Amino acid sequence: MEIPKLRIGSFTSDIPIIQGGMGVRVSLASLSSAVANEGGIGTISSIGLGDIEASKQEYERISREALIKEIRKAKSKTDGHLAVNFMGVLSNVDDLIKTSIDAGIKMIVFGAGLPTKLPDLVHDPSVNLVPIVSSARVAELILRIWDKRYERTADGLILEGPLAGGHLGFSEEQLEHPEEYSLEKLLPEVLECIKTYEDKYARKIPVITGGGIYDGKDIARMLSLGASGVQMGTRFVCTEECGVSLEFKQAYLDAKEEDIVIIKSPVGMPGRAIKNSFLKDLEVKGKMKIKCPYRCLTICKVDKAQYCVALALVNSYFGDVDHGLIFCGQNAYRINKIITVKELIQELLSGLKAA
Ligand SMILES: Cc1cc2nc3c(=O)[nH]c(=O)nc-3n(C[C@H](O)[C@H](O)[C@H](O)COP(=O)(O)O)c2cc1C
Repeated sequence: MEIPKLRIGSFTSDIPIIQGGMGVRVSLASLSSAVANEGGIGTISSIGLGDIEASKQEYERISREALIKEIRKAKSKTDGHLAVNFMGVLSNVDDLIKTSIDAGIKMIVFGAGLPTKLPDLVHDPSVNLVPIVSSARVAELILRIWDKRYERTADGLILEGPLAGGHLGFSEEQLEHPEEYSLEKLLPEVLECIKTYEDKYARKIPVITGGGIYDGKDIARMLSLGASGVQMGTRFVCTEECGVSLEFKQAYLDAKEEDIVIIKSPVGMPGRAIKNSFLKDLEVKGKMKIKCPYRCLTICKVDKAQYCVALALVNSYFGDVDHGLIFCGQNAYRINKIITVKELIQELLSGLKAA
């Protein structure tokens, strides 16, 4: 079997795998460039690169400069395809998108919020615009708005199901019944809703599925259902190239299925994480003191938030997992070793061929 390529607007990647953007600082230059060097699309996360104790101006400057540094570093390590991931709820999202484009990024992945203004920020048609959606309803809404306001359509859609890691586009009630929102159910609905726009713009809108994709067999199943590729996050965390602390990776290796839980994030969305001592302490303490001069997230209700999600994620990144939040996908408990990106991709591709 030939490995199908993934075409997204101006990109054609040799393998149908996107490494999902992972904040805070989980997917930066080292991981994304390693994935791009293996023929996939590597995604740099733009989230949480500032200093949470800094003032607005300082925070924005630091995060802008840090993002430019990661983009330049990634570009110096690969000629392959790179994307940058953004969350719509970031206070400085527009600035970071412009910064990425100026630094030569050609694919913008936008989740956690509706990208209604995105085509207005990015005029260069060679920059691929790829919203993350969790249903056909949201896909239809975005495509309809873009069509009416800007006469353009998406270069691709990432359909993220309920088994993914990080913040999730489903309610807590929906997450109690993940089988009702499985990718197998959602994908045909999304493929149906994009037809109108594919016809109107005479181009394919590739749909890339993510959330719980673990091995080559899963990739084969998604492709057979009509996905053009997959987005994977969790499996890339336990690679040598992923820049998080060893403690973060060890938490994945130690996790059992029952340790993986749904949390209420201060972002206002549910998230999936490993139940560690940080989360257990929270149950007892209730609310922690938060210093927040900047307000990095537009929707974070600082007075009501139990903890600062940015700080908790940064702590884990640096290895202080006892005071940190460890986001992961539902299948994290299945990982039992740290391997290189090359080894992981080879394993996935041989599984895909066999399937
Ligand atoms: C540690 C971690 C952090 C993540 N952070 C983000 C993020 O900042 N933005 C985003 O759009 N998705 C984020 N995700 C989701 C991934 O990009 C990916 O779509 C998802 O994890 C796919 O599911 P999988 O982990 O089961 O492969 C994160 C996932 C993980 C595991």
